[in-house]
Amino acid sequence: MPSNTASSSLLKLASPRRPLSKHEIGLPDRARRALWNAVWLFLGRLSPSPLHPWRSFLARSFGAQIGRGVHIYPGAKIWAPWKLVMGDRSCLADGVGCYNVAPVTIGEDVVISQDTYLCTATHDYNDRAFPLLVAPIAVESHAWVAAGAFLSPGVTVHRGAVVGARSVVTADVPAWSVVAGNPARIVNTRSNFDLL
Ligand SMILES: CC(C)(COP(=O)(O)OP(=O)(O)OC[C@H]1O[C@@H](n2cnc3c(N)ncnc32)[C@H](O)[C@@H]1OP(=O)(O)O)[C@@H](O)C(=O)NCCC(=O)NCCS
Repeated sequence: MPSNTASSSLLKLASPRRPLSKHEIGLPDRARRALWNAVWLFLGRLSPSPLHPWRSFLARSFGAQIGRGVHIYPGAKIWAPWKLVMGDRSCLADGVGCYNVAPVTIGEDVVISQDTYLCTATHDYNDRAFPLLVAPIAVESHAWVAAGAFLSPGVTVHRGAVVGARSVVTADVPAWSVVAGNPARIVNTRSNFDLL
Protein backbone atom coordinates (compact mmCIF):
# COMPACT_ATOMS: atom_id res chain seq x y z
CA MET A 1 0.00 0.00 0.00
CA PRO A 2 1.58 3.30 -1.01
CA SER A 3 2.06 6.21 1.34
CA ASN A 4 1.05 9.74 0.41
CA THR A 5 4.38 11.29 1.22
CA ALA A 6 5.21 11.87 -2.44
CA SER A 7 2.09 13.87 -3.16
CA SER A 8 3.20 17.03 -1.41
CA SER A 9 6.21 17.83 -3.58
CA LEU A 10 7.77 16.99 -6.94
CA LEU A 11 10.36 14.33 -6.19
CA LYS A 12 13.15 13.43 -8.56
CA LEU A 13 13.09 9.83 -9.79
CA ALA A 14 16.01 8.38 -7.86
CA SER A 15 16.40 4.90 -9.27
CA PRO A 16 18.68 4.57 -12.35
CA ARG A 17 17.59 2.74 -15.46
CA ARG A 18 19.19 -0.41 -16.86
CA PRO A 19 22.56 0.06 -18.63
CA LEU A 20 22.93 0.37 -22.40
CA SER A 21 24.82 -2.13 -24.53
CA LYS A 22 26.02 -1.97 -28.16
CA HIS A 23 23.84 -3.67 -30.73
CA GLU A 24 23.99 -4.48 -34.45
CA ILE A 25 20.91 -5.38 -36.45
CA GLY A 26 21.84 -8.48 -38.46
CA LEU A 27 20.58 -9.56 -41.88
CA PRO A 28 18.19 -12.25 -40.55
CA ASP A 29 16.55 -9.66 -38.31
CA ARG A 30 16.21 -7.21 -41.22
CA ALA A 31 14.60 -9.87 -43.42
CA ARG A 32 12.23 -10.91 -40.63
CA ARG A 33 11.29 -7.31 -40.04
CA ALA A 34 10.56 -6.71 -43.74
CA LEU A 35 8.18 -9.67 -43.73
CA TRP A 36 6.55 -8.58 -40.46
CA ASN A 37 6.05 -5.02 -41.74
CA ALA A 38 4.31 -6.32 -44.86
CA VAL A 39 2.11 -8.69 -42.84
CA TRP A 40 1.16 -5.97 -40.34
CA LEU A 41 0.49 -3.39 -43.07
CA PHE A 42 -1.98 -5.56 -44.97
CA LEU A 43 -3.40 -7.89 -42.30
CA GLY A 44 -3.00 -5.93 -39.05
CA ARG A 45 -3.19 -2.23 -39.73
CA LEU A 46 -6.16 -2.59 -42.07
CA SER A 47 -8.06 -4.99 -39.79
CA PRO A 48 -11.24 -3.76 -38.05
CA SER A 49 -10.54 -2.35 -34.59
CA PRO A 50 -12.50 -4.99 -32.57
CA LEU A 51 -10.47 -7.88 -34.07
CA HIS A 52 -7.99 -7.99 -31.18
CA PRO A 53 -7.61 -11.81 -31.14
CA TRP A 54 -6.63 -11.67 -34.81
CA ARG A 55 -3.87 -9.11 -34.25
CA SER A 56 -2.64 -11.03 -31.18
CA PHE A 57 -2.47 -14.10 -33.43
CA LEU A 58 -0.40 -12.18 -36.00
CA ALA A 59 2.04 -10.98 -33.33
CA ARG A 60 2.28 -14.49 -31.83
CA SER A 61 3.00 -15.88 -35.30
CA PHE A 62 6.13 -13.71 -35.30
CA GLY A 63 7.25 -14.86 -31.86
CA ALA A 64 5.51 -12.42 -29.49
CA GLN A 65 4.42 -13.81 -26.14
CA ILE A 66 0.89 -12.47 -25.84
CA GLY A 67 -1.46 -13.27 -22.96
CA ARG A 68 -5.24 -13.66 -23.00
CA GLY A 69 -7.58 -10.74 -23.69
CA VAL A 70 -4.80 -8.50 -24.99
CA HIS A 71 -5.79 -5.49 -27.11
CA ILE A 72 -3.31 -4.45 -29.78
CA TYR A 73 -5.00 -1.69 -31.76
CA PRO A 74 -4.47 -1.54 -35.54
CA GLY A 75 -2.61 1.78 -35.33
CA ALA A 76 0.06 0.40 -32.95
CA LYS A 77 3.46 -0.27 -34.49
CA ILE A 78 5.65 -3.08 -33.17
CA TRP A 79 9.24 -3.10 -34.40
CA ALA A 80 10.06 -6.74 -33.57
CA PRO A 81 7.23 -8.89 -32.20
CA TRP A 82 9.71 -11.63 -31.27
CA LYS A 83 11.03 -9.26 -28.60
CA LEU A 84 7.62 -8.40 -27.14
CA VAL A 85 5.96 -9.93 -24.06
CA MET A 86 2.45 -8.80 -23.04
CA GLY A 87 0.56 -10.15 -20.03
CA ASP A 88 -3.18 -10.86 -19.88
CA ARG A 89 -5.62 -8.01 -20.58
CA SER A 90 -2.92 -5.48 -21.48
CA CYS A 91 -3.31 -2.93 -24.24
CA LEU A 92 -1.24 -1.14 -26.89
CA ALA A 93 -3.41 1.74 -28.14
CA ASP A 94 -3.47 3.33 -31.59
CA GLY A 95 -0.36 5.29 -32.41
CA VAL A 96 1.86 3.47 -29.91
CA GLY A 97 5.40 3.05 -31.19
CA CYS A 98 6.99 -0.06 -29.74
CA TYR A 99 10.59 0.39 -30.90
CA ASN A 100 11.79 -2.82 -29.32
CA VAL A 101 15.29 -3.35 -30.68
CA ALA A 102 15.82 -4.66 -27.13
CA PRO A 103 12.98 -6.54 -25.41
CA VAL A 104 9.83 -4.79 -24.21
CA THR A 105 8.07 -6.62 -21.39
CA ILE A 106 4.57 -5.58 -20.38
CA GLY A 107 2.81 -7.10 -17.38
CA GLU A 108 -0.88 -7.84 -16.82
CA ASP A 109 -3.66 -5.22 -16.91
CA VAL A 110 -1.34 -2.58 -18.33
CA VAL A 111 -2.60 0.28 -20.51
CA ILE A 112 -0.19 1.92 -22.93
CA SER A 113 -2.25 4.85 -24.21
CA GLN A 114 -2.29 6.52 -27.63
CA ASP A 115 0.93 7.77 -29.24
CA THR A 116 3.24 6.58 -26.48
CA TYR A 117 6.75 5.75 -27.68
CA LEU A 118 8.57 2.82 -26.05
CA CYS A 119 12.13 3.53 -27.15
CA THR A 120 14.69 0.83 -26.39
CA ALA A 121 17.50 2.21 -28.55
CA THR A 122 19.74 5.27 -28.82
CA HIS A 123 23.16 6.00 -30.37
CA ASP A 124 26.67 6.44 -29.02
CA TYR A 125 27.19 10.00 -30.24
CA ASN A 126 30.85 9.92 -29.13
CA ASP A 127 31.66 7.19 -31.61
CA ARG A 128 32.08 8.18 -35.28
CA ALA A 129 30.40 4.93 -36.32
CA PHE A 130 27.35 6.12 -34.37
CA PRO A 131 26.53 2.59 -33.11
CA LEU A 132 23.18 1.60 -31.69
CA LEU A 133 22.97 1.33 -27.90
CA VAL A 134 20.05 -0.62 -26.51
CA ALA A 135 18.45 -1.55 -23.20
CA PRO A 136 15.15 -3.30 -22.44
CA ILE A 137 12.02 -1.56 -21.21
CA ALA A 138 9.58 -3.07 -18.70
CA VAL A 139 6.11 -1.87 -17.72
CA GLU A 140 4.90 -3.91 -14.78
CA SER A 141 1.35 -5.09 -14.05
CA HIS A 142 -1.44 -2.55 -13.37
CA ALA A 143 0.62 0.39 -14.67
CA TRP A 144 -0.87 3.04 -16.97
CA VAL A 145 1.32 4.97 -19.41
CA ALA A 146 -0.86 7.86 -20.57
CA ALA A 147 -1.05 9.41 -24.03
CA GLY A 148 2.07 10.54 -25.82
CA ALA A 149 4.59 9.54 -23.15
CA PHE A 150 8.19 8.76 -24.07
CA LEU A 151 9.98 5.93 -22.25
CA SER A 152 13.77 6.01 -22.58
CA PRO A 153 15.92 2.90 -23.15
CA GLY A 154 16.32 0.81 -19.99
CA VAL A 155 13.51 2.21 -17.87
CA THR A 156 11.15 0.14 -15.75
CA VAL A 157 7.72 1.46 -14.86
CA HIS A 158 7.11 -0.49 -11.70
CA ARG A 159 3.86 -2.13 -10.62
CA GLY A 160 0.80 0.07 -10.61
CA ALA A 161 2.57 3.32 -11.51
CA VAL A 162 0.96 6.04 -13.68
CA VAL A 163 2.95 8.02 -16.25
CA GLY A 164 1.17 11.28 -17.13
CA ALA A 165 0.40 12.37 -20.67
CA ARG A 166 3.38 13.63 -22.72
CA SER A 167 5.83 12.75 -19.95
CA VAL A 168 9.45 11.93 -20.72
CA VAL A 169 10.59 9.08 -18.48
CA THR A 170 14.37 8.91 -18.07
CA ALA A 171 14.63 6.81 -14.88
CA ASP A 172 12.76 3.97 -13.23
CA VAL A 173 9.29 4.84 -11.93
CA PRO A 174 8.52 3.60 -8.39
CA ALA A 175 5.55 1.29 -7.83
CA TRP A 176 2.16 2.98 -7.34
CA SER A 177 3.58 6.45 -7.97
CA VAL A 178 2.13 9.02 -10.40
CA VAL A 179 4.80 10.77 -12.45
CA ALA A 180 4.51 13.58 -14.98
CA GLY A 181 6.49 16.16 -16.91
CA ASN A 182 9.76 16.39 -18.82
CA PRO A 183 11.77 14.96 -17.23
CA ALA A 184 9.12 13.01 -15.32
CA ARG A 185 8.87 13.68 -11.59
CA ILE A 186 6.67 12.14 -8.93
CA VAL A 187 3.54 14.26 -8.56
CA ASN A 188 1.29 11.86 -6.63
CA THR A 189 0.72 8.31 -5.41
CA ARG A 190 -2.12 5.91 -6.16
CA SER A 191 -4.36 4.50 -3.46
CA ASN A 192 -7.13 1.88 -3.02
CA PHE A 193 -5.07 -0.97 -4.47
CA ASP A 194 -4.70 -2.98 -1.23
CA LEU A 195 -5.73 -6.25 -2.87
CA LEU A 196 -3.34 -6.23 -5.81
C1 LIG B 1 -1.19 12.45 -14.59
C2 LIG B 1 -2.69 12.59 -14.57
C3 LIG B 1 -3.36 11.21 -14.53
C4 LIG B 1 -3.14 13.43 -13.37
O1 LIG B 1 -2.74 12.85 -12.18
P1 LIG B 1 -3.11 13.55 -10.79
O2 LIG B 1 -2.51 12.73 -9.71
O3 LIG B 1 -4.59 13.79 -10.73
O4 LIG B 1 -2.32 14.92 -10.91
P2 LIG B 1 -2.86 16.42 -10.72
O5 LIG B 1 -3.78 16.77 -11.83
O6 LIG B 1 -3.31 16.57 -9.29
O7 LIG B 1 -1.51 17.25 -10.92
C5 LIG B 1 -0.44 17.17 -10.01
C6 LIG B 1 0.68 18.05 -10.55
O8 LIG B 1 1.23 17.39 -11.72
C7 LIG B 1 1.11 18.26 -12.87
N1 LIG B 1 0.75 17.39 -14.00
C8 LIG B 1 -0.30 16.56 -14.10
N2 LIG B 1 -0.28 15.92 -15.29
C9 LIG B 1 0.80 16.38 -15.95
C10 LIG B 1 1.35 16.09 -17.21
N3 LIG B 1 0.80 15.20 -18.04
N4 LIG B 1 2.50 16.71 -17.56
C11 LIG B 1 3.07 17.62 -16.72
N5 LIG B 1 2.60 17.91 -15.50
C12 LIG B 1 1.48 17.31 -15.13
C13 LIG B 1 0.00 19.24 -12.51
O9 LIG B 1 0.15 20.43 -13.23
C14 LIG B 1 0.24 19.40 -11.03
O10 LIG B 1 1.34 20.27 -10.83
P3 LIG B 1 1.30 21.42 -9.66
O11 LIG B 1 1.19 20.61 -8.36
O12 LIG B 1 2.58 22.13 -9.84
O13 LIG B 1 0.08 22.21 -9.94
C15 LIG B 1 -3.22 13.39 -15.80
O14 LIG B 1 -2.66 14.68 -15.80
C16 LIG B 1 -2.89 12.73 -17.12
O15 LIG B 1 -1.82 12.89 -17.68
N6 LIG B 1 -3.88 11.97 -17.65
C17 LIG B 1 -3.71 11.22 -18.85
C18 LIG B 1 -4.76 11.59 -19.89
C19 LIG B 1 -4.63 10.72 -21.09
O16 LIG B 1 -3.55 10.39 -21.52
N7 LIG B 1 -5.77 10.33 -21.66
C20 LIG B 1 -5.80 9.50 -22.85
C21 LIG B 1 -5.66 8.06 -22.53
S1 LIG B 1 -7.17 7.31 -22.04
